[in-house]
Amino acid sequence: MSYYPREVIDDIRSGNDIVDVVGQYVKLKRSGSSYVGLCPFHNEKTPSFHVNQDGQYFHCFGCGVGGDVIGFMMKYGNYSYPDALKVLAERINYILPEGEMSADIVKKRELKQNLYEIHKIAARFYYEQLMSDNGKIAAEYLDKREVKLGIRRKFGLGYSPVAKGALYENLKSKGFSEDTILKSGLVYKRDNGAYYDKFFNRLMFPIIDVYGNIIGFGGRVLGDGQPKYLNSPETEIFNKSRNLYNLNNAKASKIREFILVEGYMDAIAIYQAGFHNVVASLGTAFNENHAKVLKSYADSVILLFDSDEAGVKAVLRAIPVLENAGLKIKVLQVHDAKDPDEFIKRFGAAEFGELLKTAKNHIIFQAEQLQKKYDLEILDDKIAFSKDIAKLLSNIESSIETDAYLKEVSKMTDIDLPAIQDEIAKLNNGVAVVRMASKGSKINKNGIDEARSGLISILVSNKVYYDLLSKHIKPEEFVDDFYVKTVSYIYSLYSQDKPVNKESIIGYFETVEEQSRITKLFVRQVGYIDDEIEKAMNDLVRKVKEAYYDKMISDDYSNPELPKLMEMKRNVSKLYISLSDG
Ligand code: CTP
Ligand code: MN
Repeated sequence: MSYYPREVIDDIRSGNDIVDVVGQYVKLKRSGSSYVGLCPFHNEKTPSFHVNQDGQYFHCFGCGVGGDVIGFMMKYGNYSYPDALKVLAERINYILPEGEMSADIVKKRELKQNLYEIHKIAARFYYEQLMSDNGKIAAEYLDKREVKLGIRRKFGLGYSPVAKGALYENLKSKGFSEDTILKSGLVYKRDNGAYYDKFFNRLMFPIIDVYGNIIGFGGRVLGDGQPKYLNSPETEIFNKSRNLYNLNNAKASKIREFILVEGYMDAIAIYQAGFHNVVASLGTAFNENHAKVLKSYADSVILLFDSDEAGVKAVLRAIPVLENAGLKIKVLQVHDAKDPDEFIKRFGAAEFGELLKTAKNHIIFQAEQLQKKYDLEILDDKIAFSKDIAKLLSNIESSIETDAYLKEVSKMTDIDLPAIQDEIAKLNNGVAVVRMASKGSKINKNGIDEARSGLISILVSNKVYYDLLSKHIKPEEFVDDFYVKTVSYIYSLYSQDKPVNKESIIGYFETVEEQSRITKLFVRQVGYIDDEIEKAMNDLVRKVKEAYYDKMISDDYSNPELPKLMEMKRNVSKLYISLSDG
């Protein structure tokens, strides 16, 4: 929650017209009811960045970012929520209430600055160690892996020495307090009171954010030993799911297609081969925050993971995550090598460039992987496979694309085209009621997010729908935290007779991610014509409720309530909410 009372926030928001504020940084042109300009958050030549004065929100149809004036400041200036408020307050000479809280902010900011400083010093220390006699073992290792000197410098590679408190002593001598040093995660305190460096005798990879700050380290063991890689813990400045290795360089490449790999060494090898648009996830599973970060700098991603089973699994997991973020996805596998690093070492940079050109569309890759599960000589397998394929293809939004893949897949696998088409038609009927305004939005698995969004739009459009719907569906039935939060808030506004509109709901959220999500929901939702709204509402309610029961059921199969839950799920199809009841 925020540091300031709601009323203060509302004052600041209403004192800063979004068109004026955005207009200070972005050249805007009036176009109908909104203002349009080139998006400051991604590279574009034709404007897709819209600012809506009536609703006091902005939205970019290209990269999906959106929100209110506070959200814009946060994103534009890379400010935290309270800092963005401060800037906007200053802009209109509004005196913010001072208090303990703002002292907290000051302290937090100081801590962050100290942590950045500590990481810079640590990186320099490790680098010097690598260059000294101490670091011979690491330098020889890098020789063996053919990492050139310039690349070692470019990536700030280093060596953490064997002496167990060397970094600690160094930082201490520079005047940092023990407490701050501990908060960097680079040093820990033993029960006996002694301070130890987290990393020792490892090859060090500094992790750098898009702004060029060093925020953490990965350390590779030299020789055998466990764990192979040790990573900095999450700290005040290091969030593993928002950062990717080499993102700063990939961003600077200005190439809007990124190569996503698993390892530090893969990223470095590919960079050294001349492809700077490479990023690696940081030893954590690729998640939706990573995807959002990627989406800010790229339109398309080539997934290039290890060619083993674990790599294929990771690719299959990453595809829907990237897809939901609206990224184009290709998949690539190396041959005759376990990973990209080894491939380049064996076959060279030019061959790697050729390999990149053979990246497959992800649908084709997924179809191939599905096919491996089945023996198509067996009839039952063939039927199950057709159903799987239908499910895969029903997620594609454009029917032209669906047709093209359908043909390709049926050629590839020799399954009956009309049979899959029938299956797809069946699957699609379930989501046909939700029509989305923009092509850019992705229908995710079975349209459940669209159903939730659709209901929210209906709820916001008129109190009548709240009166009806709140009797039949509870916020927690929206399952996903973001939707649960949104619906709870809408319900609470209505129940207190407060105004419910896009503005009030966007303004409720305090992160760029959530503001973007809610703005997108509103911008992309089409209104319903009167005589279809009742049917649409009922279809949506059923879809949302069924997904809720599915979740409850699959969360815990040993739940004694299971038969009851299944009964309730079956009853959902009998539910019908009539507008005339309102
Ligand atoms: N990783 C990790 N912790 C581990 C193992 C791996 O964080 N114990 C992460 C690292 O980011 C690593 C990536 O997962 O770079 C891929 O792991 P792996 O394929 O084992 O590493 P490589 O980069 O291939 O390592 P190397 O080439 O140095 O053997
Ligand atoms: Mn590897």
